[in-house]
Amino acid sequence: MLRDRVLLRSASPATVTVNVEQRLDAAPADLAWPYDVAIVGLGYVGLPTALAFHAAGLRVLGVDINEHRLADIRSGAPDLLGSDRARLTSAGSSAAWELSSDLSRVNRARTVIVCVPTPVNAHSVPDLRALRGASAAVVAEARPGQLLMLTSTSYAGCTRDLVVGPLEARGLRVGIDVHVAYSPERINPAVESFSHEDVPRVVGGATRACGDVAVAVLQQYVRSTHLVESLEVAELTKLLENTFRAVNIAFINEFAAVCSSLDVPVSDVIDAAATKPFGFTPFRPGPGVGGHCIPCDPHYLLWQLKADQTRAPILEEAMSGLSQRPRFVASRVRELLADAGTRAMDARVVVIGVAYKPNVSDVRESTALEVISRLRTAGVEVEYVDAHVPSIRLRDSTQLRSIRADDIGAPSLILVHTRHDSFDLDSLPKHARVLDATYTLAQSADCTHL
Ligand SMILES: NC(=O)c1ccc[n+]([C@@H]2O[C@H](COP(=O)([O-])OP(=O)(O)OC[C@H]3O[C@@H](n4cnc5c(N)ncnc54)[C@H](O)[C@@H]3O)[C@@H](O)[C@H]2O)c1
Repeated sequence: MLRDRVLLRSASPATVTVNVEQRLDAAPADLAWPYDVAIVGLGYVGLPTALAFHAAGLRVLGVDINEHRLADIRSGAPDLLGSDRARLTSAGSSAAWELSSDLSRVNRARTVIVCVPTPVNAHSVPDLRALRGASAAVVAEARPGQLLMLTSTSYAGCTRDLVVGPLEARGLRVGIDVHVAYSPERINPAVESFSHEDVPRVVGGATRACGDVAVAVLQQYVRSTHLVESLEVAELTKLLENTFRAVNIAFINEFAAVCSSLDVPVSDVIDAAATKPFGFTPFRPGPGVGGHCIPCDPHYLLWQLKADQTRAPILEEAMSGLSQRPRFVASRVRELLADAGTRAMDARVVVIGVAYKPNVSDVRESTALEVISRLRTAGVEVEYVDAHVPSIRLRDSTQLRSIRADDIGAPSLILVHTRHDSFDLDSLPKHARVLDATYTLAQSADCTHL
């Protein structure tokens, strides 16, 4: 029974690769545990994770406090990759797939994985309410023999604070009665080229035994794992990955402005630099960063450092630059309108794409929302086209509905914010004035980059 063999193997603190195709999924069910895995939080990350475990032959309990989300999942509505959509269809009719809003049921699962949101509030302060709530519920239900694993992005020491300490306070011995681990999620929503199974997972255990058990569980569907020495190494790994991206995106936005002032196309420079086979990672300039990761995660690190009076000036500067990007985009729109002699109050601007990145419907932290709000405050009439996002709600509660590409008409300016694969650029009106915040359209008399 390979499942047991995996559990018994001793993983060294290094990368371990398993051949998922050769795995035997037919291990008999452990009757003491009605579910092999419970996933708490079935969002952009938790749902594909639950589907991946189910596809690997495990009995899965998906738990989410949001009944609407559960109803969406049951009706097959969530925003998923084609491959995950197929998995959801087959899970829907499987006896090994259950959904519930009752968190107390996690005590029936051998492994409990917590994947709830870790956003920041309007002041960029980490909002740990969901993670605290889910961790407290999971700890309260913990039974000997379980593995509890956090996968939500958070500060270094979070798993120890929210899970290890409270378990010990309950009298459960971590590493003996209950195993605890942290493994950051690296899923890239809507990108088929990196499947969930193919992206290596970093794992840190509260003890060596905890790490080994967590590696064995993840290897049920992931091809490669990398066991590190502690929970904190794993937690900081995720923060390094996303602060690295934040700093580089802020820098390449700055570099785009440098190129613009020298009248050199920034994309040509990046493409050329990317031919270097070592020492250079290409990042692309754009309207800013959105989604649940890059605008939020670095603030978990900065928040933690503040308590210790430790500064991280490069990261602080990068986050400040990124947060000002939507203001810059809005001011460029107004500049181009002014250049054309159009007053803000007489202008109509159409935004192409409001999702935070191509091919998703996710508008969390999308810079488009702030750009639109700023333009509306200045008196500009703003409409948008986004086949993935039928409507948006702005901070002042105004709701806007997507118009059809056929209805763009003759606006004063078109702002290209996000380019979904399905959007046909030929549907843009001929000779319309375009501001391209994606830096992907050819520059011309009609089309300007930011
Ligand atoms: N979205 C990404 O691309 C991405 C990538 C890597 C890592 N992450 C990290 O993964 C975590 C989850 O992100 P997401 O994008 O999937 O979030 P999400 O908002 O899409 O989904 C989270 C789900 O958790 C549910 N939830 C909230 N509180 C709960 C509770 N107490 N008990 C049970 N369910 C609860 C919500 O109803 C929601 O359905 C975050 O920490 C995020 O930083 C996200």
